[in-house]
Amino acid sequence: MTESSSWEELIEAAKQASQRAYAPYSKFQVGAALRGRGGSIYAGCNVENASFGATLCAERGAIARMVCDGETEVVATVVYVVADDPALPCGICRQSLAELADPQMRILSLTPTQSRELSLGELLPYPFLFKPP
Ligand code: THU
Repeated sequence: MTESSSWEELIEAAKQASQRAYAPYSKFQVGAALRGRGGSIYAGCNVENASFGATLCAERGAIARMVCDGETEVVATVVYVVADDPALPCGICRQSLAELADPQMRILSLTPTQSRELSLGELLPYPFLFKPP
């Protein structure tokens, strides 16, 4: 599999997930797709709540699906929104990704017309990491 085709599949999964977003309050529909170390793809969408703090971001929805499937390492991430600018993962999602990915892990954020690619380490240079005694 070429590098670009591996991105293409992730991009398609993130686009499809964004269409399933439950975002009646913000109307900001986010799709995220993660590739696990084993090669599989895990997608998620944001799920909002009338109690706004209970909202789940697309990235963490995808992480939950991945871990429940037995995968514990993210090797690439795509975030897709239909908006003027690409959406970068929020602070909680950056920390959540840092638990399960190397700082070199690439994050590709896309809109229909724009793209921005960064590493997790660029987005969160000093994650909190807990080493059990
Ligand atoms: N959101 C995500 O799903 N991922 C992000 O990285 C940023 C924000 C969602 C949460 C909320 O449903 C909406 O976007 C507006 O903040």
